[in-house]
Amino acid sequence: MQTRAGLGLHFRSLEAGDIASVMALEAQVQTHPWRRSSYEDCLDGRHHCWLAEAEGQVVGFVVVAWAGGDGELLNIAVAPSHQRQGVGECLLSLAVEQVKPYASMLFLEVRLSNRNAIQFYEREQFFEVGQRPNYYPSKRGREDALILARELS
Ligand SMILES: CC(C)(COP(=O)(O)OP(=O)(O)OC[C@H]1O[C@@H](n2cnc3c(N)ncnc32)[C@H](O)[C@@H]1OP(=O)(O)O)[C@@H](O)C(=O)NCCC(=O)NCCS
Repeated sequence: MQTRAGLGLHFRSLEAGDIASVMALEAQVQTHPWRRSSYEDCLDGRHHCWLAEAEGQVVGFVVVAWAGGDGELLNIAVAPSHQRQGVGECLLSLAVEQVKPYASMLFLEVRLSNRNAIQFYEREQFFEVGQRPNYYPSKRGREDALILARELS
C-alpha cells in the first residue's frame, strides 16, 4: 500500500520479537506509553496489533479489539520521522477493514490535550460521543478523556 505522500508500506501482525521496538516507538510519542503486558495481550488474540513497515523498518502500529458488536481502537502511533505522510490514515483504514466484520461502530478514547490526534480522528470521520472525567494519569494529576466513535457500515 502507498500512503497519500507516496510512501510504500507493508503491514503485518505483531510478533513477540517486535514488542521491544514497538515500545521504543511509542515511548517517542506518548507521555504514558503502554506496559509490555498490554502488547503481550495482542499475541494471545485478546487484542489485535498490526505493524506498518517502510523499507523494513517499523514506522507505526495500531491495536484494536472487538466484542458484542462494538470495536475499540486501543492504540495507534506513528514514529515522529514518518508522521503527517498518511501512515496513520493507512493504519486506521486497515484497522477498520479488520474490525468491520465484527462491529458496526468503532470507539476510542483520547486525551483532551492531544489536539493532534483529535484533529487526525476528526479528519477520519470520528465524532464525539462523550467524555470520561479524570480518566488518564497526567503530569499534573489526572486528565479527561474524549470518547469518539465512527460508524463502520
Ligand atoms: C495521531 C497519529 C497516529 C497520526 O499519524 P500520522 O501518520 O501523522 O497521520 P496522517 O499523516 O495519516 O494524518 C495526519 C493528519 O492528522 C492531523 N495531525 C497529525 N499530527 C499533527 C500535528 N503535529 N499537528 C497538527 N495536526 C496533526 C492533521 O489533520 C494531519 O493532516 P495534515 O498533515 O494534512 O495537516 C500520530 O500523530 C501519532 O503517532 N501521535 C502520537 C500518538 C497518539 O497520540 N496516538 C493517539 C492515541 S489516542
